[in-house]
Amino acid sequence: MTIAREDYLPAAGKHWLLPFYDPFLALFTSERRWRARILDALDLKPGDLLVDVGCGTGTLAIMAKRRVPHARVIGIDPDPRALRRAERKAARAAVVVEYQRGFGDDVATIVGAGRASKAVSTFALHHMPRDVQLATLTAMRDVLQPGGAICIADFEGGHFNGPSDDTLAADLAALGFEQIRVLDRFRAAFSNVTVAGAQRPST
Ligand SMILES: C[S@@+](CC[C@H](N)C(=O)[O-])C[C@H]1O[C@@H](n2cnc3c(N)ncnc32)[C@H](O)[C@@H]1O
Repeated sequence: MTIAREDYLPAAGKHWLLPFYDPFLALFTSERRWRARILDALDLKPGDLLVDVGCGTGTLAIMAKRRVPHARVIGIDPDPRALRRAERKAARAAVVVEYQRGFGDDVATIVGAGRASKAVSTFALHHMPRDVQLATLTAMRDVLQPGGAICIADFEGGHFNGPSDDTLAADLAALGFEQIRVLDRFRAAFSNVTVAGAQRPST
Protein backbone atom coordinates (compact mmCIF):
# COMPACT_ATOMS: atom_id res chain seq x y z
CA MET A 1 0.00 0.00 0.00
CA THR A 2 1.32 3.48 -0.84
CA ILE A 3 -0.79 5.81 1.30
CA ALA A 4 2.10 8.20 1.84
CA ARG A 5 1.58 9.57 -1.71
CA GLU A 6 0.41 13.17 -1.72
CA ASP A 7 -0.16 13.50 -5.46
CA TYR A 8 -3.93 13.67 -5.73
CA LEU A 9 -6.39 16.34 -6.75
CA PRO A 10 -8.71 17.00 -3.80
CA ALA A 11 -12.50 17.14 -4.07
CA ALA A 12 -12.84 20.88 -4.69
CA GLY A 13 -9.52 21.26 -6.49
CA LYS A 14 -7.74 22.92 -3.52
CA HIS A 15 -7.67 21.80 0.09
CA TRP A 16 -8.86 25.17 1.39
CA LEU A 17 -12.01 24.90 -0.76
CA LEU A 18 -13.08 21.58 0.80
CA PRO A 19 -15.63 23.19 3.20
CA PHE A 20 -17.45 24.50 0.11
CA TYR A 21 -17.60 21.14 -1.72
CA ASP A 22 -20.82 19.79 -0.19
CA PRO A 23 -22.69 23.12 -0.29
CA PHE A 24 -21.59 23.60 -3.93
CA LEU A 25 -23.00 20.21 -4.97
CA ALA A 26 -26.20 20.82 -3.03
CA LEU A 27 -26.69 24.27 -4.59
CA PHE A 28 -25.58 23.71 -8.16
CA THR A 29 -26.51 20.09 -8.88
CA SER A 30 -29.64 18.07 -8.17
CA GLU A 31 -27.49 16.06 -5.86
CA ARG A 32 -30.07 13.98 -4.02
CA ARG A 33 -31.63 13.00 -7.33
CA TRP A 34 -28.49 11.95 -9.18
CA ARG A 35 -27.05 10.14 -6.20
CA ALA A 36 -30.35 8.28 -5.80
CA ARG A 37 -30.21 7.29 -9.48
CA ILE A 38 -26.73 5.85 -9.00
CA LEU A 39 -27.90 3.92 -5.96
CA ASP A 40 -30.89 2.64 -7.97
CA ALA A 41 -28.41 1.41 -10.59
CA LEU A 42 -26.31 -0.31 -7.93
CA ASP A 43 -29.34 -2.17 -6.60
CA LEU A 44 -27.71 -2.74 -3.22
CA LYS A 45 -28.96 -5.71 -1.20
CA PRO A 46 -28.49 -6.78 2.43
CA GLY A 47 -25.21 -8.67 2.66
CA ASP A 48 -23.57 -6.75 -0.18
CA LEU A 49 -20.11 -5.31 0.34
CA LEU A 50 -19.98 -2.01 -1.52
CA VAL A 51 -16.68 -0.19 -2.04
CA ASP A 52 -16.88 3.51 -2.91
CA VAL A 53 -13.62 4.56 -4.59
CA GLY A 54 -12.74 8.25 -4.24
CA CYS A 55 -15.59 8.62 -1.75
CA GLY A 56 -14.58 12.18 -0.84
CA THR A 57 -16.82 13.62 1.87
CA GLY A 58 -18.76 10.36 1.96
CA THR A 59 -22.25 11.43 0.88
CA LEU A 60 -22.96 8.50 -1.46
CA ALA A 61 -21.62 5.92 0.99
CA ILE A 62 -23.86 7.31 3.73
CA MET A 63 -26.90 7.31 1.45
CA ALA A 64 -26.12 3.71 0.47
CA LYS A 65 -25.89 2.60 4.09
CA ARG A 66 -29.12 4.40 4.99
CA ARG A 67 -30.92 2.68 2.13
CA VAL A 68 -29.64 -0.78 2.95
CA PRO A 69 -28.47 -0.90 6.58
CA HIS A 70 -27.47 -4.56 6.30
CA ALA A 71 -25.02 -3.89 3.51
CA ARG A 72 -21.39 -3.21 4.42
CA VAL A 73 -20.03 -0.01 2.91
CA ILE A 74 -16.34 0.90 2.65
CA GLY A 75 -15.27 4.34 1.40
CA ILE A 76 -11.72 4.86 0.15
CA ASP A 77 -10.12 8.23 -0.52
CA PRO A 78 -6.57 9.60 -0.36
CA ASP A 79 -7.64 12.85 1.33
CA PRO A 80 -7.64 12.63 5.13
CA ARG A 81 -9.50 15.95 5.43
CA ALA A 82 -12.35 14.68 3.27
CA LEU A 83 -12.44 11.44 5.25
CA ARG A 84 -12.69 13.33 8.53
CA ARG A 85 -15.72 15.17 7.16
CA ALA A 86 -17.16 11.88 5.91
CA GLU A 87 -16.76 10.32 9.35
CA ARG A 88 -18.47 13.26 11.06
CA LYS A 89 -21.34 13.09 8.56
CA ALA A 90 -21.77 9.35 9.07
CA ALA A 91 -21.83 9.85 12.85
CA ARG A 92 -24.51 12.55 12.48
CA ALA A 93 -26.52 10.20 10.24
CA ALA A 94 -26.03 7.41 12.81
CA VAL A 95 -24.68 4.97 10.25
CA VAL A 96 -21.48 2.96 10.20
CA VAL A 97 -19.46 3.45 7.04
CA GLU A 98 -15.87 2.19 7.07
CA TYR A 99 -13.78 5.01 5.66
CA GLN A 100 -10.17 4.25 4.89
CA ARG A 101 -7.40 6.34 3.47
CA GLY A 102 -6.05 5.01 0.20
CA PHE A 103 -5.79 5.41 -3.53
CA GLY A 104 -8.07 3.87 -6.12
CA ASP A 105 -5.32 1.74 -7.59
CA ASP A 106 -4.72 0.15 -4.18
CA VAL A 107 -8.34 -0.75 -3.48
CA ALA A 108 -7.94 -4.49 -4.08
CA THR A 109 -5.02 -4.56 -1.64
CA ILE A 110 -6.85 -2.50 0.97
CA VAL A 111 -10.16 -4.39 0.85
CA GLY A 112 -8.87 -7.73 -0.44
CA ALA A 113 -9.06 -9.15 -3.94
CA GLY A 114 -12.45 -10.66 -4.77
CA ARG A 115 -14.08 -9.43 -1.54
CA ALA A 116 -16.61 -6.86 -2.77
CA SER A 117 -19.92 -7.60 -4.44
CA LYS A 118 -20.27 -4.04 -5.74
CA ALA A 119 -17.91 -1.18 -6.50
CA VAL A 120 -18.79 2.41 -7.30
CA SER A 121 -16.91 5.56 -8.13
CA THR A 122 -18.59 8.92 -8.60
CA PHE A 123 -16.73 11.91 -10.00
CA ALA A 124 -13.32 10.61 -8.97
CA LEU A 125 -11.89 9.40 -12.29
CA HIS A 126 -11.67 12.92 -13.72
CA HIS A 127 -9.39 13.78 -10.79
CA MET A 128 -6.86 11.24 -12.02
CA PRO A 129 -4.40 11.18 -14.90
CA ARG A 130 -5.20 8.62 -17.57
CA ASP A 131 -2.75 5.95 -16.36
CA VAL A 132 -4.14 6.23 -12.81
CA GLN A 133 -7.72 5.98 -14.13
CA LEU A 134 -6.81 2.70 -15.81
CA ALA A 135 -4.97 1.40 -12.76
CA THR A 136 -7.98 2.32 -10.60
CA LEU A 137 -10.48 0.58 -12.89
CA THR A 138 -8.17 -2.47 -12.87
CA ALA A 139 -8.09 -2.48 -9.07
CA MET A 140 -11.89 -2.06 -8.96
CA ARG A 141 -12.22 -5.16 -11.16
CA ASP A 142 -9.84 -7.04 -8.90
CA VAL A 143 -11.66 -6.11 -5.68
CA LEU A 144 -14.89 -7.53 -7.10
CA GLN A 145 -15.96 -11.10 -6.63
CA PRO A 146 -16.87 -13.02 -9.81
CA GLY A 147 -20.20 -11.67 -11.02
CA GLY A 148 -19.72 -8.47 -8.99
CA ALA A 149 -21.06 -5.20 -10.35
CA ILE A 150 -19.24 -1.95 -11.05
CA CYS A 151 -20.88 1.44 -11.50
CA ILE A 152 -18.97 4.53 -12.61
CA ALA A 153 -20.40 8.03 -12.80
CA ASP A 154 -18.27 10.80 -14.17
CA PHE A 155 -18.19 13.87 -16.31
CA GLU A 156 -17.89 13.19 -19.98
CA GLY A 157 -14.60 13.96 -21.73
CA GLY A 158 -13.72 17.60 -21.94
CA HIS A 159 -14.36 18.30 -18.26
CA PHE A 160 -10.90 17.91 -16.74
CA ASN A 161 -9.89 14.31 -17.50
CA GLY A 162 -13.40 12.87 -17.55
CA PRO A 163 -13.70 9.83 -19.82
CA SER A 164 -16.16 9.84 -22.72
CA ASP A 165 -18.92 7.21 -22.90
CA ASP A 166 -16.85 5.41 -25.50
CA THR A 167 -13.59 5.55 -23.60
CA LEU A 168 -15.16 4.30 -20.40
CA ALA A 169 -16.96 1.45 -22.19
CA ALA A 170 -13.76 0.53 -24.05
CA ASP A 171 -11.73 0.59 -20.83
CA LEU A 172 -14.26 -1.66 -19.07
CA ALA A 173 -14.29 -4.05 -22.05
CA ALA A 174 -10.48 -4.16 -22.16
CA LEU A 175 -10.49 -5.14 -18.48
CA GLY A 176 -12.77 -8.09 -19.21
CA PHE A 177 -16.00 -6.62 -17.83
CA GLU A 178 -19.25 -7.90 -19.33
CA GLN A 179 -22.74 -6.45 -19.76
CA ILE A 180 -21.31 -2.96 -20.17
CA ARG A 181 -24.07 -0.43 -20.51
CA VAL A 182 -24.82 3.26 -20.08
CA LEU A 183 -27.30 3.33 -17.19
CA ASP A 184 -27.99 7.02 -17.15
CA ARG A 185 -26.92 10.39 -18.46
CA PHE A 186 -27.67 13.69 -16.77
CA ARG A 187 -26.30 17.17 -16.28
CA ALA A 188 -24.52 18.21 -13.09
CA ALA A 189 -22.22 21.12 -12.30
CA PHE A 190 -22.68 22.48 -15.84
CA SER A 191 -21.46 19.29 -17.58
CA ASN A 192 -22.84 16.05 -18.96
CA VAL A 193 -22.44 13.01 -16.75
CA THR A 194 -22.46 9.37 -17.80
CA VAL A 195 -23.32 6.53 -15.44
CA ALA A 196 -21.95 3.24 -16.76
CA GLY A 197 -22.46 -0.21 -15.30
CA ALA A 198 -20.81 -3.56 -15.96
CA GLN A 199 -20.19 -6.94 -14.39
CA ARG A 200 -17.07 -8.89 -13.63
CA PRO A 201 -17.50 -12.25 -15.39
CA SER A 202 -18.90 -14.97 -13.12
CA THR A 203 -16.03 -17.39 -13.80
C1 LIG B 1 -14.96 15.42 -6.99
S1 LIG B 1 -14.52 14.41 -5.62
C2 LIG B 1 -15.81 13.18 -5.64
C3 LIG B 1 -16.10 12.71 -4.25
C4 LIG B 1 -17.31 11.78 -4.13
N1 LIG B 1 -17.11 10.55 -4.85
C5 LIG B 1 -18.60 12.44 -4.55
O1 LIG B 1 -19.34 11.87 -5.36
O2 LIG B 1 -18.89 13.54 -4.03
C6 LIG B 1 -13.12 13.47 -6.22
C7 LIG B 1 -12.45 12.66 -5.12
O3 LIG B 1 -11.47 11.82 -5.73
C8 LIG B 1 -10.41 11.70 -4.82
N2 LIG B 1 -9.23 11.22 -5.54
C9 LIG B 1 -8.30 11.93 -6.22
N3 LIG B 1 -7.34 11.11 -6.70
C10 LIG B 1 -7.69 9.85 -6.31
C11 LIG B 1 -7.10 8.57 -6.48
N4 LIG B 1 -5.96 8.40 -7.17
N5 LIG B 1 -7.74 7.50 -5.95
C12 LIG B 1 -8.91 7.66 -5.27
N6 LIG B 1 -9.49 8.84 -5.07
C13 LIG B 1 -8.90 9.92 -5.59
C14 LIG B 1 -10.26 13.09 -4.22
O4 LIG B 1 -9.55 13.08 -3.00
C15 LIG B 1 -11.71 13.50 -4.08
O5 LIG B 1 -12.21 13.21 -2.80
